[in-house]
Amino acid sequence: MKVLFAASEAVPFAKTGGLADVIGSLPKELVKQGLDVRVILPKYEDIPAQFTQQMETVASFTLQMGWRQLYCGILKLVHEGITFYFVDNEMYYRRRGCYGYGDDAERFAFFCRAVLDALPHIDFIPDVIHCHDWQTGMIPVLYRAHFSWQPQYEHIKTVMTIHNLKYQGVFGKEQFKDYFALGDEHLGGYALELFGGASFMKGGLLYSDIITTVSPTYAEEIQTPYFGEYLDGLLRSQQHRLYGIVNGIDYEEFDPMTDPRLEVNYRDSVVKKQQNKMKLQERLGLPVNKDIPLIALVTRLVDQKGLSLVDRVIEDLLSLEAQWVILGTGDHRYEQLFRWAADRYPDKLSANITFNEPLARQIYASSDLFLMPSEFEPCGIGQLIAMRYRSIPIVRETGGLKDTVASFDESTGEGTGFSFTHYNAHDMLYTVQRAVNLYNDPEAWKTIWSNIKKKDFSWRKSAQQYAALYNNL
Ligand code: GLC
Repeated sequence: MKVLFAASEAVPFAKTGGLADVIGSLPKELVKQGLDVRVILPKYEDIPAQFTQQMETVASFTLQMGWRQLYCGILKLVHEGITFYFVDNEMYYRRRGCYGYGDDAERFAFFCRAVLDALPHIDFIPDVIHCHDWQTGMIPVLYRAHFSWQPQYEHIKTVMTIHNLKYQGVFGKEQFKDYFALGDEHLGGYALELFGGASFMKGGLLYSDIITTVSPTYAEEIQTPYFGEYLDGLLRSQQHRLYGIVNGIDYEEFDPMTDPRLEVNYRDSVVKKQQNKMKLQERLGLPVNKDIPLIALVTRLVDQKGLSLVDRVIEDLLSLEAQWVILGTGDHRYEQLFRWAADRYPDKLSANITFNEPLARQIYASSDLFLMPSEFEPCGIGQLIAMRYRSIPIVRETGGLKDTVASFDESTGEGTGFSFTHYNAHDMLYTVQRAVNLYNDPEAWKTIWSNIKKKDFSWRKSAQQYAALYNNL
């Protein structure tokens, strides 16, 4: 089974969110299970030199995109046993960051074309092209419109995975005609049209063989208007080929027993976890106290993550017997909220408005509780890492949060965290209070830890599910 992952980010080359974690780790597990999985990405300027220096050019050709004749280079790098290909065109990708440019439509149109054009040049004709998020959504469309009848290509199947339905890649129809040489038959409401323009994501959903998303609950939710982002009707009509497979994490990469960034390594030791906590308190200028619960938020600071709830009751949260540590960047509004809170309550909250992987790991290791009150959450990775580092998640019951965290039930002793149902600030506040109270009950805490310990959030099972889907295709 030969599979090509096409995506716009992957750890350790380029990352803006959880997508990069998935693309950097799922292929490893699939390869372990015997599949030949390779990955293709754009060659961005920001990819660290330690990687670009080792890349070798394996192909270069001229690509036709509308009236444009464009250079396309393909570089190759084998990293931790996985073959990565990088699409090179300096006009499009020699810039800072991954997205946010006025010509993003053209940049990812080029990427989609390049993936399909590259296959004979790199001598890898996959059985399945697995596309991730809108940036790759036009691959299945191009495949059906221009490639499927060519002998080398005719057996290829396509899978489209939604990591976040909110981002859809909607641009003007004229652009789609131009970049993809599509006739009007592809641009109607039953095809790519969306909001008067056309959408990369919608193309991927309609023209792929199978659609997946990153948790079973999100697969249900996106078939309803609240979560469906105007595509719920389409998704309901395609539910026979829509699957939800929950994300895992790389258990070797995320392991408090071996993580070199921690003060003290541990697995199930409360005492060693407290040593990490005291070190972090000292570093961040919080009062050093091993017994006070430390609550963490490590996240992009955007609406999706439920921060408007935190905003609404921040003074109540800060009056609890607990300390808070925030790490992340994002919307100005939330950055300012946490800066303000740190200023007003320096003994209670530390705001780290930055992106810093070592600090993130120390926070997972040091915190007792990990808050994720998301408005919606396709899967969520923070809560999985938190459980691996024995920081107990407090989540809202949505998407993957609902599928991976079970609320602690004092009467049965079951559960791996704390949760609330409605997107309501006081429901969240009450749940945080409950968690803080239980923190003072070491027996209950031990029970939750041992429940978490029995769970497996590695990629093993989910990779088996992907492999089964590929086989069915
Ligand atoms: C997106 C989603 C997140 C998911 C990740 C990886 O970032 O918002 O919930 O875990 O993709 O699939």
